[in-house]
Amino acid sequence: MSWIYKAVVRPTFFKRNSEEAHNIVISQLRWAAQRRWALKLSECFFKGQRLPVNLFGLNFPNPIGLAAGMDKAGEAVPMGESLGFGFSELGGVTQHEQSGNPKPRMFRVIEDEALINRMGFNNPGADSIAKRLIDLRKDNLWPAHPVGINLGKSKITPLEKAAEDYLYSFNQLKNLADFFVINVSSPNTPNLRQLQDKAALDEILSALQSNNINQKPILVKVAPDLEFDALDEILELVNPHRLAGLVATNTTIARPKETNVNKTKLYLEKGGLSGRPLSARSTEVIRHLYRQTKGTLPIIGVGGIFSSEDAWEKITAGASLLQIYSGLVYEGPQINRSILKGLARRLANEGLTSILDAVGTVSYTHLTLPTKRIV
Ligand code: FNR
Repeated sequence: MSWIYKAVVRPTFFKRNSEEAHNIVISQLRWAAQRRWALKLSECFFKGQRLPVNLFGLNFPNPIGLAAGMDKAGEAVPMGESLGFGFSELGGVTQHEQSGNPKPRMFRVIEDEALINRMGFNNPGADSIAKRLIDLRKDNLWPAHPVGINLGKSKITPLEKAAEDYLYSFNQLKNLADFFVINVSSPNTPNLRQLQDKAALDEILSALQSNNINQKPILVKVAPDLEFDALDEILELVNPHRLAGLVATNTTIARPKETNVNKTKLYLEKGGLSGRPLSARSTEVIRHLYRQTKGTLPIIGVGGIFSSEDAWEKITAGASLLQIYSGLVYEGPQINRSILKGLARRLANEGLTSILDAVGTVSYTHLTLPTKRIV
């Protein structure tokens, strides 16, 4: 099946500009999401085996989730499950509706199986998304798997007022999703990543937790470009703010060293890089976080997962759950079924019964090694 995607579907999409192709896919998914027969049919093609993970009080039928940014407006929520995902993360959602950065703002580096984007949180705003999610629930189209919402900051909100912006969206959406991810790591909203500083993040998390009446799990998504010292400062906020976990990582502003002229031109595009070139650094960050917390803090691993080998590497580095964006673009919707099959085989070979038994096994073995990155 994945050969059909690579031989026929992908070349057709790749003839179009990256955002145009994305919009076509989202509108098809939105169409299918409203038809029960289409949901069932898609499930037959794409749903893989169960590999349950129970984490922060939620039951994930498998550990592979749809990463933030694909369904920014919550248009295709019911389809996540039918595509075989074990959970979905919607958004990034901001308090105010915004159109994002000027186009073009999304690029493929096909040879490297990478994407560069500088979307800038284009989304209809928290009020409008809340209304859409309420309608989905009314229509009984809500998926059985956990749904998270990624919260960002509106561009017009100054940094000093960031906590208010996040809190507004959280209050509008807090009863509509299972968990929340605070995104302070997108490179595409000016200065947003300064909110990863301990004092700024402390203020945001205080505001959210004091309004978190139903104790929804709150996670923070970190950038791969943070030094280990800066990651350690974020870890100091975990206990005081009862963080449920971290999502590692967002896209990177770093670029591979290139000698190929075509790729060099693409890599000069501003924005966050995802896909294959992000994989190693994202795993390095996961490993660091796992070691520093001695495996006590759940980590959602994301960045350059294309195969069950990539997935296994992130799990054994310390990730309990995984997410995919670029892999879906390059491998197609069969990716989940194929990764789950590989993971199930790997577990059997290792004599393990659950994904959680494999988490951090490689990082743990090397816990005595130095944990600071040598720059
Ligand atoms: C993203 N990503 C992202 N992350 C986030 O926290 N909020 C967002 O709104 C977005 N938006 C977004 C748009 C586009 C076009 C891309 C490609 C990515 C980052 C995404 O969730 C993920 O962290 C990275 O893409 C790394 O994973 P992959 O793509 O290497 O699997």
